[in-house]
Amino acid sequence: MVIATPRANTDVFTLNTGAIIPAVGFGTWQSEDNQAYEAVKVALANGYKHIDTAAIYKNEEQVGKAIKDSKISREELFITTKLWNTDHKRVAEALDESLKKLGLDYVDLYLIHWPLSTDPATGEPYSDVDYLDAYKELQKLQKSGKTRAIGVSNFTQKQVQRVLDDKDVTIVPAVNQIEAHPLLTQPELTEYLQKHNIVVEAYSPLGSTNSPLFKNPTVVELAEKYEVEPAQVLISWALQRKTVVLPKSVTEKRIISNFKTFELVPQDFKKLSNLSEQYGVQRLNTLKGVDFSD
Ligand SMILES: NC(=O)c1ccc[n+]([C@@H]2O[C@H](COP(=O)([O-])OP(=O)(O)OC[C@H]3O[C@@H](n4cnc5c(N)ncnc54)[C@H](OP(=O)(O)O)[C@@H]3O)[C@@H](O)[C@H]2O)c1
Repeated sequence: MVIATPRANTDVFTLNTGAIIPAVGFGTWQSEDNQAYEAVKVALANGYKHIDTAAIYKNEEQVGKAIKDSKISREELFITTKLWNTDHKRVAEALDESLKKLGLDYVDLYLIHWPLSTDPATGEPYSDVDYLDAYKELQKLQKSGKTRAIGVSNFTQKQVQRVLDDKDVTIVPAVNQIEAHPLLTQPELTEYLQKHNIVVEAYSPLGSTNSPLFKNPTVVELAEKYEVEPAQVLISWALQRKTVVLPKSVTEKRIISNFKTFELVPQDFKKLSNLSEQYGVQRLNTLKGVDFSD
């Protein structure tokens, strides 16, 4: 029996802008209305400083209210929101709308949610605009100060490289927020991003809703060994991979324990890193029209 002493995690990473980003962020997808307000309130009261939301989550107002009620000073917080696919032709307006809902003058990070530009009138991809055009608009927003950093989400290596190769791109994305957990480690993409000083943010780190990971024998065995929750094993593993990690919960007890992490010994870290060899690679989030194969 190895008894770990999980501690409130105050680790940070440094973005390529020089700004600091707290390593454990709080996820808010599928937390709606009052649930999002209560969850963010509990998170902020228990040490989280980094909140991850998005226009499509339809909870920015509640998140903003919880931020305001926390009385934590703005400079201490790191707030991310995201541009939805149907807003790639109205990027500045979309950020203004998000800021208004959040009740903030700026966000710390604004992401292109998916590499997909959808015409809201038809639901089909635009033929005259794509994520690269949207990214160029994001650059202007960083210069205006409405967001302190910009980045992407769900981008493949090829898509990130296309952004970097464009002659009008002068700001390297600060992060790529991607699905990452022991059943989807994305080693090549992760290595590529880290080599380019683009921070990897691990979303669905617990395996999302109805996660297959909580019942996984290796995860359960390690939780028993260290006398921690399976979620703490997964969050601690993500941090040891040097990724920002974004666990979501609306349950007070879980919100509190998810913030407390510990160190896995190298052998156990490796066991988790190799989990998909035994159980298969599992991607839990996809969207019609997105191709992850390149
Ligand atoms: N960029 C993107 O496209 C994208 C996509 C997906 C997610 N994200 C971001 O990443 C965040 C996290 O991903 P996610 O929401 O998909 O899933 P997740 O954080 O991997 O898992 C959330 C699920 O795990 C449960 N859970 C949380 N802590 C637990 C614990 N200690 N023990 C047992 N169960 C626990 C939650 O239940 P309860 O809530 O009921 O406690 C919920 O069902 C999102 O909220 C969002 O901010 C981004």
